[in-house]
Amino acid sequence: MGSKIAEIMALNGKDVILSDISEEILNKGIASIEQSLAELVRFHMQKAEKEIRRLENDFGLKLTEDQIKRIHEHLKPTYDEARKQDAFKRIRLTTSLEEFANVDLVIEAIIEVAQVKKELFNKLDAICDRHAVFATNTSSLSITELGASTKRASKFLGVHFFNPPTTLPLVEVIPGLETSEETVNDAIDFISGLRNNRYPLQPIRVKEVPGFLVNRILGAMLHEAFACYEEGVASMRDIDLAMKAGAGMPMGPFELADMIGIDVLYNVQQSIKAMEGGNTTPKPIHILRKLYHAGRLGKKTGRGFYEYA
Ligand SMILES: NC(=O)c1ccc[n+]([C@@H]2O[C@H](COP(=O)([O-])OP(=O)(O)OC[C@H]3O[C@@H](n4cnc5c(N)ncnc54)[C@H](O)[C@@H]3O)[C@@H](O)[C@H]2O)c1
Repeated sequence: MGSKIAEIMALNGKDVILSDISEEILNKGIASIEQSLAELVRFHMQKAEKEIRRLENDFGLKLTEDQIKRIHEHLKPTYDEARKQDAFKRIRLTTSLEEFANVDLVIEAIIEVAQVKKELFNKLDAICDRHAVFATNTSSLSITELGASTKRASKFLGVHFFNPPTTLPLVEVIPGLETSEETVNDAIDFISGLRNNRYPLQPIRVKEVPGFLVNRILGAMLHEAFACYEEGVASMRDIDLAMKAGAGMPMGPFELADMIGIDVLYNVQQSIKAMEGGNTTPKPIHILRKLYHAGRLGKKTGRGFYEYA
């Protein structure tokens, strides 16, 4: 998530410092950004030619030179090599938190473990200028609790992107108890002015509740799908098929779980449970816990519910 959020910011002309715990991980992150930007440019550079081929092949037309010129003008690439290079140059990699001293905004997207996030924010609080706003991309942890690990709770909020943020435009903006209205409004204004690789970003204000909005609804659906699988109602593939072919979802629940990451889902489930003071789900399920402990974390480890080559 962190490298993709960095990619969005850089494409929007913002200078970005991307940080992680090792250079090796950072190099993987920047390689994936480079690949994603290259694909974006390729798509835009081929847009006009593709449309010309489509019109000529599908309708048996022979377009005139003037028509071809007009299609090229109409479908001018929004992203080209120069924009790619500009975005790429804006991202600086570091393993040193000291480099964050002068940033305006921190967007944290590290592992979904409250203590690890709090330690990071606590360190950054001592390093960053007082005016800097701190945002967490947490999927489930308490914004108020994370904000309390800093001395800037009024400038601390949740800014929750969805996976993959380069194509999904929604961003949940979640104030904690101490977050100022100014911080919330600034965050909404800032996000409203950004685009991902396809769409303008769409911020919505959401109250701090377990799972926030999307994951609260999505979590209930995934939970039912896992329960159906454990009860043997249908096979994993058929449950995925059912939700795609019968409910119009672009991905089945198991495909989605593997894409999100089993560890992310497991940690989200645990923190929602903790916030609600126990297991409030009607049917306990076990498959997520088993996959998590087996290290089958989904697409990123090559195995989750499914296997990936
Ligand atoms: N995966 C999703 O679908 C999704 C969607 C929305 C939000 N999120 C949230 O985004 C965050 C990251 O999720 P992800 O899927 O990208 O996880 P990930 O495991 O792919 O990436 C986490 C990164 O954090 C790094 N890290 C761990 N501890 C660190 C530390 N102390 N300092 C700096 N870096 C550290 C890891 O090296 C890793 O590169 C989580 O809070 C998660 O809940 C995830």
